[in-house]
Amino acid sequence: MYFGVDYYPEHWVYPHAGTPEHPEARWQEDVSLMMEAGVNVVRMGEFAWGLYEPHEGQFDFAWMRRMMDLLGDAGIKVVLGTPTAAPPIWLARKYPQILPLDERGQLRYEGTRRAVCLNSDKFRELSVKVVEALARALGDHPQLIGWQIDNGLGGHGTEFTFNEETRADWIQWLRMKYETLDRLNEMHGNRFWAQMVHEWDHVPMPRRAPTVHNPALIMDWLRFSSDSIVAYARMQTELLKQITPHVPVTQNLRAMTRDFDHFDMAETLDFVSVDSDATMTTKSAENACYIDMMRSLKKQGIRAPGGGDSGFWVIEHKAGNVSWADVNTLVRPGVIRLFSHQWVSRGADGLLYFHWRQPRIGSEKFYGGVLTHDGRADGRVYQEFKQIGKEMEKLGPILAGTRVKSEVAILVSSENDWNMRHVPQPNRRFNQREHVQLFYNAFHDRSVPVDFVRATEDLSRYKAVIAPSIQLLAGGEADLLKLYVMHGGTVVATCNTGLVDEHHMAPDSGYPHDLTDLFGLEVVEFDPLPAGEENHLAVKGGFAATHLHPARIWCDIIKPISCQVLATFAKDFYAGSPALTINQYGEGRAIYIGTISQPSFYHDLVGFLRQQCGVHPLLKVPENIEVSAREKDGMRVYFLLNHQNSPVRLTFYKPVHDFLTNKTISGPYDLQPHGVLILDESIALSAAATP
Ligand code: GAL
Repeated sequence: MYFGVDYYPEHWVYPHAGTPEHPEARWQEDVSLMMEAGVNVVRMGEFAWGLYEPHEGQFDFAWMRRMMDLLGDAGIKVVLGTPTAAPPIWLARKYPQILPLDERGQLRYEGTRRAVCLNSDKFRELSVKVVEALARALGDHPQLIGWQIDNGLGGHGTEFTFNEETRADWIQWLRMKYETLDRLNEMHGNRFWAQMVHEWDHVPMPRRAPTVHNPALIMDWLRFSSDSIVAYARMQTELLKQITPHVPVTQNLRAMTRDFDHFDMAETLDFVSVDSDATMTTKSAENACYIDMMRSLKKQGIRAPGGGDSGFWVIEHKAGNVSWADVNTLVRPGVIRLFSHQWVSRGADGLLYFHWRQPRIGSEKFYGGVLTHDGRADGRVYQEFKQIGKEMEKLGPILAGTRVKSEVAILVSSENDWNMRHVPQPNRRFNQREHVQLFYNAFHDRSVPVDFVRATEDLSRYKAVIAPSIQLLAGGEADLLKLYVMHGGTVVATCNTGLVDEHHMAPDSGYPHDLTDLFGLEVVEFDPLPAGEENHLAVKGGFAATHLHPARIWCDIIKPISCQVLATFAKDFYAGSPALTINQYGEGRAIYIGTISQPSFYHDLVGFLRQQCGVHPLLKVPENIEVSAREKDGMRVYFLLNHQNSPVRLTFYKPVHDFLTNKTISGPYDLQPHGVLILDESIALSAAATP
């Protein structure tokens, strides 16, 4: 288990913490405090370009080597960032073409970070030079166990640039894809508003225009922009692999909110790392969902520091409050620890806290740190951090080689997500993330672990695949789902599926595009509902309903073909028409939910799936206790987390062993507010916990 911090040694030289005689004097003290807390790794250097290369071509990596040596004396390992997220000022002044133009053609100026166009040849050339110089200067340092590419690629809304160099790459990308303009005009549907192009250079970038660009063009632009970011990252990865083949490469990703394909990006990396704002979120299931999404980005081919072939890192775990919210509330005692265990329980093998110490300079000075501005060791967060450090040291050997296993997967498609965010929608009240979360929460509350998958992965590993609202559904994805069900899988899809294909063309064979045979039905119309209007479901038997389930936001008008109807709509002109159906297809089943309901419906659905395909909970515990497990060779380690502000009563009918306290627990047990239990396998047999 790697446990550490994000450290900025450059903040702590004279006059901010060193002395005139020993400008770097504070470094030693920091290293001692890190050692005392059980730190075994630090990440550094991701914004240090201007210090590494103060003038073009003049490099100085000696200061970083001194820092790494100090850490080496303490046995602490290092992950180094490539510094390309923050180009030096001289670079933008000398080569202004690297600055990005936004959709209005406005420049985004230098002076912060990320002010670059990744399609700029000059920027790529200078990136290669600095990354190569860094790898040659420090790549042989014995402490180095990983590279982080750049930092927060795509962040601050920098996924898209509208520079002339971008345009040239865009046209090239389109030429490769379509070969002829006739084909491009056809596939983009350019006859609409008669926007045909007759010269390649005339294909627009979707810049600010009076109204919406053609959705097919927007989709290609998103694919192209994603490919551009991924190609930039891959260029750095490949370079590093040539020079330091033994050092694994990662990148700090965020909750799939940025507009590039995170699965594609994960393919370029040896292991995935993520930024976590977990300590800001109050809903534990939202966090859990984020964690499971990020863990799922890379399931195979992992090469992690220390030789692991599974897991991921939280390379920036908030050590306290953030500084960019409207109100940057302090994180309450015990919460950082609780969320740290939540990450570990769902597969994290590295936890690094952002940041070691609150900087006395710069725009993030009021961001919480392990140490506060004063740098003293008696602070509240440092004490909690030390406790977490001790616990991680204990857990390391127990968790080594364990991984999270799931029987259920939720299907994701970046293209579908982009489509929903960037193209006009039938109902703006529909929110894909919230829709996914409804399903996720139901599994989470019933302690059923979930992975996220792309359709191209091996779906046969899962008993059930949930495919919520894949509105843009590529023909290939539809075929893969059919294959999965044909061979015995269970798929659950919903309203707002298959309205367009990958060319953003609506089907002339009924919705959902290419899937009417799988579900044994055809959606003939759909009715987006305004706020305050609801229908509800009349259940017909076969589906056990614990409540009267509402139908909100969207109702499909379904013509059944071969499916069995489990519930109908209760009112409006489509009263009595199917709302929930199941269809036998090959060896498997395809369930269709023609609306969006409320949490109790999804809880009932999990019960229904238990009957249909045997998905089962890890443990039976009160709903407000979060359970997850990591396993190896049939051995399981269970995590029980209490996210409430009050104790929760559990009852253990057989003794269980708690790894954190090394104590045996049996009978009634009150899990304290923000409390964590990490228990051995025997719990599976013994735990019947009662509220
Ligand atoms: C991260 C970034 C850090 C810091 C942090 C603030 O995404 O990598 O450098 O800015 O956000 O939340």
